[in-house]
Amino acid sequence: MCHRKPRLEVLISREEISQAVNRLASQISQDYKGKQLLLIGVLKGAFVFMADLIRQLDLPVEIDFVRLSSYGAAQKSSGKVKVVQPLKSLIKGRDVLVIEDIVDTGITTSFLLDYLRRKKPASLKLCALTDKPSRRQVPVSINYLGFTIPDKFIVGYGLDFDEKLRYLPDICFLER
Ligand code: IMP
Ligand code: MG
Repeated sequence: MCHRKPRLEVLISREEISQAVNRLASQISQDYKGKQLLLIGVLKGAFVFMADLIRQLDLPVEIDFVRLSSYGAAQKSSGKVKVVQPLKSLIKGRDVLVIEDIVDTGITTSFLLDYLRRKKPASLKLCALTDKPSRRQVPVSINYLGFTIPDKFIVGYGLDFDEKLRYLPDICFLER
């Protein structure tokens, strides 16, 4: 539980997360049956979600990671995003599913999807653990979604505040 830390309140418990992971895994397993799916996790935030998700999938997946940085921060409408750690995998002709921790303004995800689309995958879809639609600046369509959340800053289950609190097993509001 989060109450060992002050000013944290559980928004989504580990049990609810686990149910959502199972639901998403069974949808993805059905939709990609017979295919060799390539999952691309967005570091660092998606690593916990991705680790749980792949173990519930009934598919022979391959995994890779990409690391992005948004310098100037997402507040800027220009939304400059940079690929810090590029992909090792060949994307061309593959069925690719991007795994995100959160879609907030949409700037990061939309940049990544454009970047991957240029590499000509056979298919490209998005699975996001959480979505904050009230903050959206760039439209992003999410094919597999865990939770829609209100406009509050969340931490835990991979999500950080200033690189801290990623280890919390529940998703919590950070009251600032
Ligand atoms: P974007 O605004 O959709 O481009 O999101 C940029 C990044 O900000 C996400 O990938 C997260 O790493 C981070 N982020 C956005 N909202 C939150 C939050 O509520 N908690 C923790 N990280 C967040
Ligand atoms: Mg982050």
